[in-house]
Amino acid sequence: MLSVRIGTLLTAGLLAFGTAHSSEIETEKAKYRRPTSIPFPDDTPYSPQMATLGKMLFFDPRLSGKQNLSCASCHNPSFGFEVPVPGAIGATNKPLARKAPTVLNAAWIPTLFWDGRAPNLETQAMGPIMADAEMDGKFPEIIARLNNTPEYKAWFGKLFPRNGVTQDNILTAIATYERTIVSGWAPFDRWIEGDDAAISFSAQRGFTLFTGKTGCASCHTGWNFTDNKFHDLGIPTQDIGRAAFDPDGPLTMHAFKTPGLRNLTYRAPFGHAGQFANLEEIIAFYETGGLARPSKSPLMKPVTLSPQEREDLIAFLRSLTAEQTRIALPNLPN
Ligand code: HEC
Ligand code: HEC
Repeated sequence: MLSVRIGTLLTAGLLAFGTAHSSEIETEKAKYRRPTSIPFPDDTPYSPQMATLGKMLFFDPRLSGKQNLSCASCHNPSFGFEVPVPGAIGATNKPLARKAPTVLNAAWIPTLFWDGRAPNLETQAMGPIMADAEMDGKFPEIIARLNNTPEYKAWFGKLFPRNGVTQDNILTAIATYERTIVSGWAPFDRWIEGDDAAISFSAQRGFTLFTGKTGCASCHTGWNFTDNKFHDLGIPTQDIGRAAFDPDGPLTMHAFKTPGLRNLTYRAPFGHAGQFANLEEIIAFYETGGLARPSKSPLMKPVTLSPQEREDLIAFLRSLTAEQTRIALPNLPN
């Protein structure tokens, strides 16, 4: 596994703060430190040129059948690489049944989609390009279009001297760009690094609730706040989730992948179908403990929160949002 220092990709305000005091909370805080590098697979190492080509492709509507939809149509940087609606509208002009999840921090996510059906970002990217309800693209057409665009032909020729524009090479470039999409430094990160004033007392109490009595951290763990596993929370839904790919697992019915909690401020609505309009609604759901059914995760239990505790939990969740990261749009070749 190769890795690339995040500092080389993000202009992050990494400052050395004082060392932590030893206490229970400091032990807990140590579990949430940001990684310092991005993992890249050995066979598709990072190169700035590959990421630049991938970025152009991610924003290029010519990858869709009608040349009107790009990856960014549904994974828009201004909305935390999502869209502000429960169901994004694809090529069939109908809202999709599932919410577009963020591509932030995808380099650390081992299985993609809400049900985990794609084993890596390369395989994942093929799905939306070809799906008729999403981009409805045909690879032979896309390859011809890119070959007819001299600048693209030159980029592919340089980066893939053996075979130029191919389906696999398009997917490799897109996946490389996606691995560079990392959530920026949030007030929470500065607090973890020892700046005690970086987040409010309310948010600090929220962290104690999150890692303590509410049980949130049993699934939302580590710096990206996910165990990358599948759980049925007891949300009313017809969607069978993970069970479509793992029908024999006792707890896979209606189970969905735990989403990371970075940059939530930009990503409403929430949940696999965008069922929750805002953070208040999702906290209210967790207080109920979810519908009782055989597949429901044993980690889901009702919890009683005072109005102050609700506020604290939300203040903590908001502290995980980075200051809006500037993303320059690529110039697409003509
Ligand atoms: C029409 C909207 C739409 C378009 C266009 C689209 N996506 Fe998505 N994307 C979605 C939806 C909806 C899901 C979730 C589907 C599911 O889980 O079954 C998703 C899931 C993903 C995921 C999985 C994230 C995770 O945490 O599991 C990645 C990565 C992703 N898309 C990247 C892309 C790329 C790359 C493109 C362009 C090649 C693209 N998407 C185009 C709507 C879209
Ligand atoms: C049993 C594991 C588990 C526990 C415990 C848990 N979550 Fe979740 N969380 C998930 C899963 C899975 C989803 C996706 C749910 C869906 O739509 O099916 C989710 C979704 C969310 C979302 C929406 C994120 C997004 O991108 O849409 C937020 C916010 C959230 N949880 C916060 C919390 C908080 C706060 C707690 C504690 C009160 C908590 N979670 C407890 C697993 C868990």
